[in-house]
Amino acid sequence: MPPHKIIIDTDPGQDDAVAILLALASPEEIDLLGITCVAGNVPLDLTSKNARIVCELAGKTNVKVFAGCDRPMGRDLVTAEHVHGKTGLDGPNLPDPVMPLAQGDAVDFIIEQLREFAPGTVTLCPLGPLTNIATAFEKAPDIKKRVAKIVLMGGGYFEGGNITPTAEFNIYVDPHAADIVFKSGVPIVVMPLDVTHKALVTKSRNDAFRALQTSVGIAVAEMTDFFERFDKEKYGSEGAPLHDPCVTAYLINPDLFTGRHINVEIETQSELTMGMTVADWWGVTDRAPNATFMGDIDADGFFDLLTDRLARL
Ligand code: BDR
Ligand code: CA
Repeated sequence: MPPHKIIIDTDPGQDDAVAILLALASPEEIDLLGITCVAGNVPLDLTSKNARIVCELAGKTNVKVFAGCDRPMGRDLVTAEHVHGKTGLDGPNLPDPVMPLAQGDAVDFIIEQLREFAPGTVTLCPLGPLTNIATAFEKAPDIKKRVAKIVLMGGGYFEGGNITPTAEFNIYVDPHAADIVFKSGVPIVVMPLDVTHKALVTKSRNDAFRALQTSVGIAVAEMTDFFERFDKEKYGSEGAPLHDPCVTAYLINPDLFTGRHINVEIETQSELTMGMTVADWWGVTDRAPNATFMGDIDADGFFDLLTDRLARL
């Protein structure tokens, strides 16, 4: 099978960084057309800088990195420095990027790429708020039927939320964008907190990254060292959850994940439950399924894959 042509839409973020590194290390399965950045974990100037820092860490300076939307569609931006640190990529000491941002806007790049390649051949991989993707769908509705699928990190059902009791961060930041995407008719695969909270960097997994003794292995160990304190304090969990790499791992080996094809709607009205992914896991409504909502992961298989691939960089 030819590699999946993908666009990673992202707000790095340490876990976004690991997702990008996994994609860059996996050319047999992933043909990365470009990285589009969005405001989320930190403001856009930092996410678009961090994406380039990560490409340079991997020695892939020819990747196109675009800046996109600097705020959600209908709400003020909420950021997550309390999780990711002031830079969004706190932990390792990495140099400022030398590679420039690509000319043009991320939203236009998404539209152009979907129009350029044959319908059903480009997969979108959102790792942050869905603002760029929804803006592209609003600006160019013709592209929706050309998207192969969307594989995204966001939402939660059994785990509830991580930014409010009911909402996961990426969906909460731009619920209106999420609503547009989930209603778009494009096939969607969702990696919710139910899965990503099982992808924990335990001490031995962190040691395995460090033992690679490469700049990438050491940087990933330092990123997860930093990023774990939030989840350890909040959930008493064993280490940092690698949310976003579940998306790129799925493209390499979908058998690592299991889930259900169900209806998922986004709450956009109630302040109390804003951004909740109302997932009909038990099929209690007759609403049509619109997403494959994952529920479980082979965590050992996931970390074996990740460590093997990072060793290549
Ligand atoms: C998601 O929010 C961000 O903090 C992470 O990068 C991930 O995409 C987890 O809720
Ligand atoms: Ca992210």
